[in-house]
Amino acid sequence: MRGMSNVIKPDLFKDYPTVSHGKGIYLYDIEGNRYLDGCSGAMVANIGHGNVNIAKVLRSQASRVAFTYRSQFTSQPAEELGALMANLAPGDLNWVFFVSSGSEATETAMKVAIQYWQERGYQNKNRIISRWMSYHGITMGALSMSGHRARRKPFATLLHDYPALQPPYCYRCPMELRYPGCKLLCAASLENTIQLLGPENIAAFIFEPVIGASGGALVPPDGYYDLIAQICRKYDVLLIADEVMTGFGRTGKMFAVEHWGLQPDIMAVGKGLSGGYTPIAATMVSNEIIRTIRSGSGSIMSGHTYSANPLSAAVALSVVKYIQNHHLVEKAAKNGAFLEKKLYRLASKHPSIGNIRGLGMMWGVELVKNYSTGEPFDAGLNVPNMLIKQAMENGLIIYNASGGFVGPAGASFMLGPPLTISRREIQSVIDLLDLTLGQVENQLGEHISYQQRLQSV
Ligand SMILES: Cc1ncc(COP(=O)(O)O)c(C=O)c1O
Repeated sequence: MRGMSNVIKPDLFKDYPTVSHGKGIYLYDIEGNRYLDGCSGAMVANIGHGNVNIAKVLRSQASRVAFTYRSQFTSQPAEELGALMANLAPGDLNWVFFVSSGSEATETAMKVAIQYWQERGYQNKNRIISRWMSYHGITMGALSMSGHRARRKPFATLLHDYPALQPPYCYRCPMELRYPGCKLLCAASLENTIQLLGPENIAAFIFEPVIGASGGALVPPDGYYDLIAQICRKYDVLLIADEVMTGFGRTGKMFAVEHWGLQPDIMAVGKGLSGGYTPIAATMVSNEIIRTIRSGSGSIMSGHTYSANPLSAAVALSVVKYIQNHHLVEKAAKNGAFLEKKLYRLASKHPSIGNIRGLGMMWGVELVKNYSTGEPFDAGLNVPNMLIKQAMENGLIIYNASGGFVGPAGASFMLGPPLTISRREIQSVIDLLDLTLGQVENQLGEHISYQQRLQSV
């Protein structure tokens, strides 16, 4: 929208293009410009845009019944979706609490964990532990659990100080150690943290299996989650997996915890659950937790007006079935490996690429001034924003993932196209990224070092 607008957008000074429609991996604005959606919006549009099958389901359910209130009715789509999700989720996460956004899903997860311990007679077991460089949502409870520094900053004094653990960020280890010599201190320190805070005060540990918006697809090293799970079990601390970004195929498994055979007690999902066709998210809860609450108060103390509304449930149900019927999880794993190879090839050409990490169709690229030493760009240059702006001008949308780190380091962006993307279209992503990196590196001039690459990305 150019000129006057009443809509509050992220940047109050910027003119945003007005979208007209989408088809597959592309979005089109009303001026006829085409954009390759290289990050599925915000890692949401997993089945691509403009899917007519989903539109048909939406229309048909809306004309039957769109809304019923959760204390008065259930619906066939909600029941069927709940059953399908329970079937797909790891272990005994057989209970589904529907909400409307990822923030509500993680906040509900936090409340369910606290309620579980209360109903078992542990009134003080109500603190959550999380990691720095994490994002669990924007509502105050979810933000309390988030270690995304830029998003915490304006509200810092109002938030709980839940982030207590250093992230598994091997490229710039916060403890200046190297794997495997580090003996996974970033995970091992959870034990000391629990002891210091007192296990009798801790309800749960929340984590993104692959750290998204605040780290740029950080994948922990082997052994990390084994150790985390072991420590949590030892001290009766519940495991909450935040799969809002990673769930429903994004990382090449239906849920990212499957990469490590990890069994959470509670799991938050969103984004890919509907692929953006309707706002819906959910908190999935284990049999043990529901059994305890059933034999206590008998009710989960949470809820939202739109919880489990039939329209959103029907749409999400058709999206999850679409993911299954079109084998999009397997496709994400296979094409993800192809994208990875292409990204590494790009790194050999572009000195601004310092590090590449990710899984499946979720990739992070960290930008640096000097790839030999990992020296970051000056913060004032705001290189990720330069790149994102230039990419948009070239017709490629990429996702900023820089705000989780203190100072200029950690300047990264994410790539995560729809899981439906073909190999030819992946090549288009790479070509546009190649062009964009070249243009930005030219603009950076002497701010970038062209020494020979000494360390691998
Ligand atoms: C891992 C994770 N958790 C929670 C959220 C919050 O989801 P929402 O923006 O739908 O509230 C996000 C959003 O980016 C996320 O990436």
